Amino acid sequence: MYKAKTTIIRDVVLSENIFKKLGSFIQSECGIKMPPGKRLMVQSRLMKRLRALEISSFEEYWAFIQSTEGKDEVINLINAVSTNKTDFFREPDHFKYLIDTVLPELIKNRPSEIREPFKFWSAGCSTGEEPYTLAMVLSDFAEKNRSFKFKILATDISTKVIEHGRIAIYSKERIDPIPMKMKQKYLLKSKDPAKKVVRIIPELRSKVIFRRLNFLDNFRLKEKVEVIFCRNVVIYFDRDIQKKLVEKFYEQLVPGGFLFMGHSETINGLNTKFRTVAPTVYQK
Ligand SMILES: C[S@@+](CC[C@H](N)C(=O)[O-])C[C@H]1O[C@@H](n2cnc3c(N)ncnc32)[C@H](O)[C@@H]1O
Repeated sequence: MYKAKTTIIRDVVLSENIFKKLGSFIQSECGIKMPPGKRLMVQSRLMKRLRALEISSFEEYWAFIQSTEGKDEVINLINAVSTNKTDFFREPDHFKYLIDTVLPELIKNRPSEIREPFKFWSAGCSTGEEPYTLAMVLSDFAEKNRSFKFKILATDISTKVIEHGRIAIYSKERIDPIPMKMKQKYLLKSKDPAKKVVRIIPELRSKVIFRRLNFLDNFRLKEKVEVIFCRNVVIYFDRDIQKKLVEKFYEQLVPGGFLFMGHSETINGLNTKFRTVAPTVYQK
């Protein structure tokens, strides 16, 4: 019985017609564009969901998504189709610019009576490598600048990656880009050497708060932030959504705050109020 079912599920095809419907639904839910070239990728990523739900065709899956009982499945659908590629110290010159230029300027311009932590937002944080890289470089900076305090908000639409970020366990291959001194300071080895994994130390984990946030929702952060990293996210959106989101980031920053975008994402041409201060770094 079970065998027969898996055989049927293995052979199902996501037709162009259902892909179009699913694709526009995904785009309207989270902004991620679904051009025809992504059909096979979506088909293979959603097979697991079909198996888990014991659904034997994409037609049935699409009907389920639209039904009242299928509401919660939307989260799994988005988890399955979002691209979460990330790395520790990805685009490393951004972190250098942050330490050498951005932080000294933010500190200089802040009235001395304000003692709150500086606030950083990793927007589209994936599995946590970006916010923990921030936490490492900011902790090193704080060691040399004793009055400097910080906290990091890390958000993503995918509940799966957020859970990974909270747990903060990474395979040994993932940590290659982290400088040796930081590895020694900020990573814990597993007690079982057969497990080739490390965990971020609790002191660093406590600096990062993970939350689910969909950029397409009408969101507002509780507090304005000094720095936003939103890298390699808007590339998946169309220009209208990009512009709205970048304007939203402008509102969420303190005056003089900074926005870092991915190296292949320029906001020049979106006609926003930001000024460019370095390649793909913008200031309010
Ligand atoms: C390619 S990863 C980038 C991760 C990290 N910023 C970096 O540069 O390494 C893009 C992330 O954006 C998230 N994302 C996509 N659409 C989103 C939306 N509408 N709201 C919030 N996050 C979204 C995805 O789930 C994914 O984890």
